[in-house]
Amino acid sequence: MSEYPNVLLLPQTNQLRGLYSIIRSKETHRSDFVFYSDRIIRLLVEKGLDQLPVEEKKIVTPLGVEHDGVEFLGKICGVSIVRAGESMEQGLRDCCRSVRIGKILIQRDEETALPKLFYEKLPDDIADRYVFLLDPMLATGGSAMLATEVLIKRGVKPERIFFLNLLAAPEGIEAYHAKFPQIKIITGGIDPKLDDKKRIYPGLGDFGDRYYCI
Ligand code: URA
Repeated sequence: MSEYPNVLLLPQTNQLRGLYSIIRSKETHRSDFVFYSDRIIRLLVEKGLDQLPVEEKKIVTPLGVEHDGVEFLGKICGVSIVRAGESMEQGLRDCCRSVRIGKILIQRDEETALPKLFYEKLPDDIADRYVFLLDPMLATGGSAMLATEVLIKRGVKPERIFFLNLLAAPEGIEAYHAKFPQIKIITGGIDPKLDDKKRIYPGLGDFGDRYYCI
């Protein structure tokens, strides 16, 4: 549960709090940061998959007994916002074999300081799919909003988009919701605010640097 109508917050269990304590700590080295972030990413993906439709299906167990089960419906794909979002691709692949993954590169325009689209490569049939938009940190929401516009221009219905991130700030959640009220954000943590450098506070630092470099 979360106080935001557009946010699905992972249950704040002691396990999850422990995982976040490791990745938030400045003492944590890269290999542990990657390992424990990957565990959280897997939980976010499972939560996302849980939002997708199913249909009733009868199956027969090895005991010859009929069981009322369900079958997953709907094609999905992932779209990562390069670079940090790429860290979430493996977690999606681990749950969905041969899943299609598109990429969007957005960087700050030197002149305007606004996010600018530099590159997009998306599955041709993306309009027929549920889309998991992947970016680990929702700070101001600038990149995520631009990436979402790209998806909608390609024909993806807003109610079929799920934005997965590890940590979100209220400023980003509110801006994203104001623009895309039908889209659900799936996150594992909401911090109190952004600091004066637009970092999530207290946060965990630069996710991409900690996952790939430091
Ligand atoms: N991106 C990050 O990696 N960290 C922040 O705090 C904000 C955006």
